[in-house]
Amino acid sequence: MERAEWLKQMRSRAEAIYDRFSSRYWTTWGLVVEETHHAYLQKFLERVPPGGLILSAACGAGRFDGLLLEAGHSVVSIDQSAGMLALAKEHFPEVDYKKMALHEMNFREMFDGVICMDAMEHICPEDYPGILHGFQEALKPGGALYFTADRAEEPDFDLEMYYERAKASGLLVVFGEVADEAAYEQAMEQPDADVSDELTDRAVYHFQGKLQLNRV
Ligand SMILES: C[S@@+](CC[C@H](N)C(=O)[O-])C[C@H]1O[C@@H](n2cnc3c(N)ncnc32)[C@H](O)[C@@H]1O
Repeated sequence: MERAEWLKQMRSRAEAIYDRFSSRYWTTWGLVVEETHHAYLQKFLERVPPGGLILSAACGAGRFDGLLLEAGHSVVSIDQSAGMLALAKEHFPEVDYKKMALHEMNFREMFDGVICMDAMEHICPEDYPGILHGFQEALKPGGALYFTADRAEEPDFDLEMYYERAKASGLLVVFGEVADEAAYEQAMEQPDADVSDELTDRAVYHFQGKLQLNRV
């Protein structure tokens, strides 16, 4: 399979997994905000003018949206998973939720701040520059961006094993990509109760390799 076609499949599988397990995501993570996220989010909020407009990109079930509202800002939130958005809407009706993938963003100088939390790990290296550019275009001049990415130095997966396995099956993978076909099929086919959180995580494409981004 051509790499571009394979990556498209990975994106639609990520959408399918998050759609299927959105309720579980809410139950497990709902409003859980870890200390580090909380501290950095406060630093980010200090840079947003009072009553600002914030884009919450790949917002999921809205874990951070309530905090942005509480800080007195208006929020537009996007995600590619309709299941995750439905839960978010239920909990934060004041937020303007839109079904939109990160690589489809077309905002122009609209936002005082952009956050993208715990989602860039699902983005392949080729899509990174376009998405970072999308954030830049979405921000007003001087606006603040806060995004998280997984650290190549502390991967959650056995990257060597995934790399060798994918190469052996003929895929044109980049070191750091995790794509587990068997986990995806198992997660989609088994009854919810038989699917562990660990399996749902493994079932979604991750990129935990090193990126070289040039300033343009
Ligand atoms: C781990 S969840 C994090 C959600 C939320 N930001 C949070 O911290 O709770 C990852 C989210 O990224 C979304 N996502 C993954 N790839 C995406 C893409 N290409 N475009 C938009 N959303 C994407 C998923 O649908 C999911 O809601």
